[in-house]
Amino acid sequence: MQYIPGLAGVPVTESKISCIDGQKGLLSYRGYDIMDLAEHSSFEETTLLLLFGTLPTKAELYEFDQNLKNARRIKFNIRNIMENLPSTTHPMHMLQVVVASLASFYPSTEYMNDGSENQAYVNDVTVKIISHMGTLVAMWEHMRNGYEPIAPRTDLTYAENFLYMVTGKEPDAHWARLLDACFILHAEHTINASTFTTMVTGSTLANPCSVIASAIASLSGPLHGGANQQVIEMLEEIGSPENARAYIEDRLSKKKVIWGMGHREYKTKDPRAKILQKLSDKLLKNKTGELSQIFKTAVEVEKVCEELLGHKGVYPNVDFYSGILYKEMGFDAGLFTPIFAVARSAGWMAHWREQIQGNKIFRPTQIYTGAGNACYIPIEQRG
Ligand SMILES: CC(C)(COP(=O)(O)OP(=O)(O)OC[C@H]1O[C@@H](n2cnc3c(N)ncnc32)[C@H](O)[C@@H]1OP(=O)(O)O)[C@@H](O)C(=O)NCCC(=O)NCCS
Repeated sequence: MQYIPGLAGVPVTESKISCIDGQKGLLSYRGYDIMDLAEHSSFEETTLLLLFGTLPTKAELYEFDQNLKNARRIKFNIRNIMENLPSTTHPMHMLQVVVASLASFYPSTEYMNDGSENQAYVNDVTVKIISHMGTLVAMWEHMRNGYEPIAPRTDLTYAENFLYMVTGKEPDAHWARLLDACFILHAEHTINASTFTTMVTGSTLANPCSVIASAIASLSGPLHGGANQQVIEMLEEIGSPENARAYIEDRLSKKKVIWGMGHREYKTKDPRAKILQKLSDKLLKNKTGELSQIFKTAVEVEKVCEELLGHKGVYPNVDFYSGILYKEMGFDAGLFTPIFAVARSAGWMAHWREQIQGNKIFRPTQIYTGAGNACYIPIEQRG
């Protein structure tokens, strides 16, 4: 038996949901290039594509959209749970706690009892989780700052409603379209740590709310989704393009990672980073006539990293530019990873649904490297 650290390159499933070409820097959902989806689709349509495998008809999209809208409100007992969390709770930790609690509001008895899936329940809980995710993150943004949360609306798209609930203002169509594109780009990404977590927890036939809570925990780490918050903090610390080289060289000499750089699958620039960089560039020039200091610093960091890390196949990943865009939209850095989680709930649910069809519980093995034949010594004789 050969041990492969981090399961690098080890297939753990057969999946029809998404595909990465790490050498060419390509990503597709159900065969559709994400460039096309980011430009022409909506988060709602892309979610349906991920869940069911085909682009929906108008009627199917309308019905799904209505279901998502109608599931935006949350029960006041769920809000009570949020009210009892310390206001210092990171939005990812809030999300993990509250999504786990949804299992007691939406129990999965039919599904659990005989191990088979009840399609009506599967569809209903899919909509509830994806819809609630945005509401919870937006509500907590106000609650953690000591304000009354803003109620969701049913006349807005997913992205518009999220913007409205966070800012309290009528959503700007331009920002909403950009946020929608960000949601599409973050919706799915093959078998990364949080998706694998979804599959492992799902394979035990745990309640889907518990499954997604475990995926949220996995995404929260700085080596995964948590990196987008670290990136913006790093760029702010660097301060200006002139400081980039010295900062990067110093970090590398101390064997520290550069946040937002590198990816297990891509050995070239992450295609999502390319799209986000283009969007940020266009957006910032449109809005302010020039690029912000933080964007210019990011471009310089990328240049230095290409020179110093390119030979290792380390290039910007999706988190490198997403934080800059979110900052320009006025979001607090604590919201960056939760926004990622909101979007990724679509991919997680698609993988959960795929997992429970023909499920086999995950139970890998190990290479034991511990002691053998140890003889128990009573505590009195151990000195
Ligand atoms: C994403 C990540 C965990 C992938 O890790 P991995 O596939 O195990 O890659 P490795 O750690 O084996 O990296 C291979 C080499 O590149 C280097 N490297 C990878 N990412 C790096 C980074 N962000 N900064 C500096 N060096 C990096 C490693 O030090 C290693 O160098 P070595 O061969 O001299 O030891 C890693 O690139 C990372 O920590 N990135 C920063 C966090 C981040 O942005 N995460 C979001 C991912 S979407």
